[in-house]
Amino acid sequence: MSPRSIGVVMNGVTGRMGYRQHLVRSVLAINEQGGVALSDGERVLLRPVLVGRSAAKLEKLATDHGIADWTTDLDAALADDDNLIYFDAQVTQARVKAVLKAIEAGKHIYAEKPTAETVEDALALADAAEAKGIKNGVVQDKLFLPGLLKLKRLIDGGFFGRILSVRGEFGYWVFEGDWQAAQRPSWNYRAEDGGGIVLDMFPHWAYVLENLFGRVNSVYAQAVTHIPERVDEQGETYTATADDAAYGVFELEGGIIAQINSSWSVRVNRDELVEFQVDGTHGSAVAGLRNCRFQHRAATPKPVWNPDLPVTARFRDDWQEVPDNAEFDNGFKIQWEMFVRHVLEDAPFPHDFASGARGVRLAELGLQSSAEGRRLVVEP
Ligand SMILES: NC(=O)c1ccc[n+]([C@@H]2O[C@H](COP(=O)([O-])OP(=O)(O)OC[C@H]3O[C@@H](n4cnc5c(N)ncnc54)[C@H](O)[C@@H]3O)[C@@H](O)[C@H]2O)c1
Repeated sequence: MSPRSIGVVMNGVTGRMGYRQHLVRSVLAINEQGGVALSDGERVLLRPVLVGRSAAKLEKLATDHGIADWTTDLDAALADDDNLIYFDAQVTQARVKAVLKAIEAGKHIYAEKPTAETVEDALALADAAEAKGIKNGVVQDKLFLPGLLKLKRLIDGGFFGRILSVRGEFGYWVFEGDWQAAQRPSWNYRAEDGGGIVLDMFPHWAYVLENLFGRVNSVYAQAVTHIPERVDEQGETYTATADDAAYGVFELEGGIIAQINSSWSVRVNRDELVEFQVDGTHGSAVAGLRNCRFQHRAATPKPVWNPDLPVTARFRDDWQEVPDNAEFDNGFKIQWEMFVRHVLEDAPFPHDFASGARGVRLAELGLQSSAEGRRLVVEP
């Protein structure tokens, strides 16, 4: 007997995330491995139905990957009862309208973050999904990065003692587009098109902080546009109306202070594009995308401040690597498998639209905090 397959409407697959991480590295990779394994051993294949605005691009994608179904007619794809799941990786601005349509059609929904541009819309999506009784999920891929899984292992093992603080550094130089092409789409730098680093990254920080350390109780942020003018995909100069860096301080449940810098205007002098340093009474750790190094209190050196002498200690040599102890799969794929199990056999999936809305709320409060120059409480 051939395995069962379910239709998955995928909107926005010509984009960076939709194509690489969701179509190729998740849905097609899952099929290559024989489908999603359910708890009773059954395997379920995913039948992608590509949706977008450009027939030519969709047809090429379908041909390149041997995919039978594609359409520019979202309504038609949603009307097909064999399509159980709707997935959205469109530009953020296009998300709410399409997701509401899919909820109305009774599809289970999985969506990229942020789920919406405003808290009001994000909560409206969560409410509509609940009212319709459909399963809903938001991409929270950073939780499945090997580096953060190792950090979680340290936390769960009680390594840190009492956690005091978290310091995150995220970012890299995104070229302005004049003498070297920008490596991110230009809409990210226009507020009117749903861009901005706060709206992009604070939803990530919300679920990372919440899942590893505790919910965010307050936020102070300073969002800035360091590079006021950029050049787009067509070679046209445009005004960057959105923030390209944000310096945030978050107070967490239990009194932990998290500081996270997010920037597309910073040059990397780190081992990874994102790193979180966690300091606790019994030990510290620095987690990146893949690796996590730690220092126990017993191995902590005792530096003495003396600017008259050259530094001879090599502080970074005193840290140890957390071993892999496991095989780490692509985080996007893991979350896809979790969501399909959630839909088909009600397996747990905490990354729902309500948690997506908390991410959007943190972004909204971050921007408000920056505009008003004050710390804001995050209402529970
Ligand atoms: N989880 C993550 O780590 C992560 C990383 C980057 C982006 N994202 C999110 O993924 C989404 C897509 O980002 P991307 O970097 O892939 O962008 P992209 O510009 O590469 O792709 C956007 C997609 O939306 C489509 N699109 C563009 N304008 C549209 C419009 N007006 N109406 C309908 N569709 C339109 C495009 O054709 C394309 O398929 C965003 O919401 C972004 O916040 C998530």
